[in-house]
Amino acid sequence: MKKIRYGVIGIGNMGSAHAKALYDGLVDGAVLAAVSDLDATRLLWAHENLGQSVAICSDYHDILTPDKVDVVLVATPHYTHPVIAKEAFAAGLNVLIEKPAGVDAVDVKCMNKAAEKSGKVFGIMFNQRTNPLFQTLKYYVDIGLLGEIKRFNWIISNWYRSQAYYDSAGWRATWNGEGGGVLLNQCPHNLDIWQWIMGMPSRLRAFCKVGHFHRIAVEDDVTIYAEYRNGASATFITSTGEYPGTNRLEISGTYGKAVAEEGVLKLYLLSEDEREICFNTSEAMPREKITEVVLNFEEKEDGHVLILKNFTNHLLNGEELISPGTEGINSLRISNAAYVSSWTHETVDVPADEKIFSGLLFEKRKREKERKAAPEPPVSHKEKAGEYDSRWSVRW
Ligand SMILES: NC(=O)c1ccc[n+]([C@@H]2O[C@H](COP(=O)([O-])OP(=O)(O)OC[C@H]3O[C@@H](n4cnc5c(N)ncnc54)[C@H](O)[C@@H]3O)[C@@H](O)[C@H]2O)c1
Repeated sequence: MKKIRYGVIGIGNMGSAHAKALYDGLVDGAVLAAVSDLDATRLLWAHENLGQSVAICSDYHDILTPDKVDVVLVATPHYTHPVIAKEAFAAGLNVLIEKPAGVDAVDVKCMNKAAEKSGKVFGIMFNQRTNPLFQTLKYYVDIGLLGEIKRFNWIISNWYRSQAYYDSAGWRATWNGEGGGVLLNQCPHNLDIWQWIMGMPSRLRAFCKVGHFHRIAVEDDVTIYAEYRNGASATFITSTGEYPGTNRLEISGTYGKAVAEEGVLKLYLLSEDEREICFNTSEAMPREKITEVVLNFEEKEDGHVLILKNFTNHLLNGEELISPGTEGINSLRISNAAYVSSWTHETVDVPADEKIFSGLLFEKRKREKERKAAPEPPVSHKEKAGEYDSRWSVRW
């Protein structure tokens, strides 16, 4: 059987784990053909941990050819995702990028156009889409089990990070290196699950607190209030400075509510539409029968490996993509809008005005450079390279 040849660009914390998973044969039908990194210590890691069959190069352009690979997996810092992806599409390759899709939705739009023009397969590593709890919750919302949705609330504050984490690589938590804080690094998964289940909000107001809990130049504490065209609303609260944190998602609809916490999905279901009850009952505070359903979930397999398997199976036999690359722009549009709202102290439409976002981000980057806070080359890899780490799974 033909094997899909992967080239991994960027073999830091995440990329080395992907490379090792492919190299160790965790993905049937796939093979690790090449890796690339700018950092000499990472290349040394590759020489020590990967066999002769894997091409190892410092310039990723050397692997952007269908002679060497079928897919490039881009696991470099965020700004470079659209840049490298566009080059790979132009070279006739399939592309799987790490999250977030990029920093500025304008660049990501160009990447999506390049993907469509190339006709190649494009995916994004939204591994939390493989989580059975989120899949089940999405299914229930899609089939209307909760009726018309009134409210979505997510407190996702269990992304705790210490100052040592932020100090571990110069690109982290800077406008020039990372292009944002918790919204752009940790939360793309959650913003994606939000829009995956609920669709895109039409406008929002956000409060992004910069360096609230850490010595960093970007936000580490965020509250978003968002609205939908049908009148539904959403709140999204996140932080890397609360310990212990919370991961509690609630969706309330006209036929009941769903609560996800600690890996358990609880459903509280009405047998009649609340809107009907509200206007037909003579009771001031009616006590309707509520059916409770409790569903326990566990992730049996690492979500990253599942996305790799799915991407490979899509190429080999047309399996439906769990996480198409062009959908990466949605979570980024929410975070871009949240920044604009926080910076301008206004409620803004989603998507936010692209020129305003790009202009304000440019100013932040310029001022950061002037303060000589520009990033150093990424050097530190404190986590054990090459192994999937539970910190990247859904934490309940
Ligand atoms: N899906 C997930 O759960 C998940 C988890 C962690 C990180 N990520 C994403 O993966 C990306 C990388 O994060 P990380 O934590 O591995 O960072 P990292 O700093 O550990 O690794 C990035 C690597 O890219 C290399 N690099 C930079 N520019 C390069 C270039 N032009 N060519 C080749 N190599 C280059 C660096 O030398 C470094 O080794 C980020 O976008 C991050 O958001 C995703």
